[in-house]
Amino acid sequence: MFNRKPHRNKRAVEEPQIDKSRLPVHVAIIMDGNGRWAKQRGVPKVMGHRAGAESLRDVVRYCAETGILILTAYAFSTENWKRPQDEVSNLMGLLVEYLSKEIQELNDNGVRIKSIGQVDGLPSDAYEALMAAEDKTKENKRLTLNLALNYGGRLEILEAVRKLAHEAHEGRLDPASIDESLFASALYTAGIPDPDLLIRPAGEFRLSNFLLWQIAYTELWITPVLWPDFRRSHLEQAIVDYQCRERRFGGRKS
Ligand code: FPP
Repeated sequence: MFNRKPHRNKRAVEEPQIDKSRLPVHVAIIMDGNGRWAKQRGVPKVMGHRAGAESLRDVVRYCAETGILILTAYAFSTENWKRPQDEVSNLMGLLVEYLSKEIQELNDNGVRIKSIGQVDGLPSDAYEALMAAEDKTKENKRLTLNLALNYGGRLEILEAVRKLAHEAHEGRLDPASIDESLFASALYTAGIPDPDLLIRPAGEFRLSNFLLWQIAYTELWITPVLWPDFRRSHLEQAIVDYQCRERRFGGRKS
C-alpha cells in the first residue's frame, strides 16, 4: 500500500545539517523586533533590547564555535537618534554593559570586536568602552564581531565619495582610476569581504539603510522570529537554507 508518510531520518529532521566546508564567511544581522517582543509581553521596551543583547551573545558563541569568521550586527543606526531620549540612553547603556560584561568571554573565545559607523559621534562613555574593547580584543583571530553603531549605509557611501573627491582635488588620485575595489577600500568595511548572508528577523522585507554597497550579491534570509527570540538554531537553519542556494553573482551556472 502507498505510504503517505515517507520514512524520515529523525536526526536529519531535528538537526539541520551544516556543511562546515561551505560556511558563509561573513554573516550580517539586522537585530529587529525588540520593541514588538516587549510590547507582546507588556514590559518596558528596554527589556526587549536587553533580551536582544542575550540573542547576540548566543549567536556570537555559535559563530565562534562553528567557524564563521565575520559577524556584523546592526546595533544602532544614524536614524535611531530620532527615538525617545530615554530609549537612546538605554541602548547606549546596554552597549557599555555588554562590552564590559562580555570582554572576558569574547577574549576566551577568540572574538575580536570591531565597529563600523560614525562611532566618534557616540556618547563619550560608549565610545571609550568601544575603543577599549577593540584594543583588548585586537589579537583575536577566530571571529570578528563588527558592531554597526551610528551606522548608515548612505552616509557611509557619501563619506567615501567625499574622501575620494578630496584626494582627486588634491591631485593624489586620478578619478579614472576609481573602480569598485578602490571605492570599497574607502568604506568603513575596507578589507572585509562582503556579507554572504544577511539575516532579517521580525519579518520585515527591507534593508533599513544597512550595508547598501556591500550587499549587492548577498543572500537574504528573512524570518518572522523576533530578534529577542532568535537563537543559534535559527542561525543554523539560515545557514542550511543558504547552502541550498545557488549563487551565480549575475552569471550562469556552468
Ligand atoms: C530594533 O528593534 C533594534 C534596535 C534599534 C537596537 C538593537 C540593539 C540591541 C539588540 C541591543 C544589544 C546590542 C548591543 C551591542 C548591546 P526595534 O526596537 O526597532 O523593534 P520593533 O521594530 O519591534 O519596535
